[in-house]
Amino acid sequence: MIYPILKIPNKQLREKSDPILEIDKDIINILDNMAETMYAAPGVGLAAIQIGIKKQLVVIDCQYGENQKKNPIFLVNPKIIWRSDEKNTYKEGCLSIPEIYEDIERSSKCKINYRDKKNRLQELDCEGLLSTCVQHEIDHLNGILFIDYLSRLKRNSIEKKFIKINKRSS
Ligand code: NI
Repeated sequence: MIYPILKIPNKQLREKSDPILEIDKDIINILDNMAETMYAAPGVGLAAIQIGIKKQLVVIDCQYGENQKKNPIFLVNPKIIWRSDEKNTYKEGCLSIPEIYEDIERSSKCKINYRDKKNRLQELDCEGLLSTCVQHEIDHLNGILFIDYLSRLKRNSIEKKFIKINKRSS
């Protein structure tokens, strides 16, 4: 099932997501639907809050664009446990802020832990695009969007644009 994706200025995108206590059938189902939604968009990552589900769930596949092979990583309750001082800049986009791409600086490497679909605790070393993607998605779980790293002027102008679009379509 493909979910509609929330766009700014939807206030839900600013909420903090709740941790998952038990990975049951419903959670697995949401994760699978999130992957379907992400590939259909298409995008390289999706957090559950972007489809209005306030839970700490993320799906990422940042290599799909290169080889067209689906290899999604499902993250339940992901946490950054280390990030490098060294930074890297990528032009980021977000399915909740369509057609906006901006250079964002983040730690070039990071390490996370999370639960996989089978409730096993996993650790993952991330670098390159994966590192950026993981940090971007975990930000979503804390109500943070990539435009928050831009100058206030730039961020305001992007937000205004979407408030206008929202008014026109409602
Ligand atoms: Ni995003």
